[in-house]
Amino acid sequence: MYNILVLHGPNLNMLGIREPGIYGTVTLAAIEERLAALAGTIGVQLEFHQSNHEGVLIDRIHDALGKKDGILINPGAFTHYSYAIRDAISTVMLPVVEVHLSNIHKREPFRHVSVIAPVAVGQIAGFGATSYELGLMALHRHLEEKGAS
Ligand code: DQA
Repeated sequence: MYNILVLHGPNLNMLGIREPGIYGTVTLAAIEERLAALAGTIGVQLEFHQSNHEGVLIDRIHDALGKKDGILINPGAFTHYSYAIRDAISTVMLPVVEVHLSNIHKREPFRHVSVIAPVAVGQIAGFGATSYELGLMALHRHLEEKGAS
């Protein structure tokens, strides 16, 4: 049984209302329900947190050390400029999968850069709420392969 921390960054609490043309109408609660259902089928324990504050996200990453096997994160806009979140990930050395609802690579140029991606196992973007499920499956597979090696 793997323990995975699921972190949502700023403005993701507003999903359902926020720019539905880009992010769809699915709420964060619905995304978490879908993730919880998937977690049940693959034998993973999830803990969810959303914060609009960089420092709170960093504290959650630090708290994961020694308690979690990996982190699934949508850092929101912090993706593009938070060296502090990137450093927190490097500090705890836990495997991280970065997810985005939208395809950040076909949006505004400032979204094309992720400062998180270089310290992540990988990135999944552009599949709406399904990005999270794909990300969880990818992280789970990564942990299984790492455990087997
Ligand atoms: C996002 C993409 C970011 O550029 C944006 O700031 C978000 C959401 C996504 O899930 O598509 O807040 O991370």
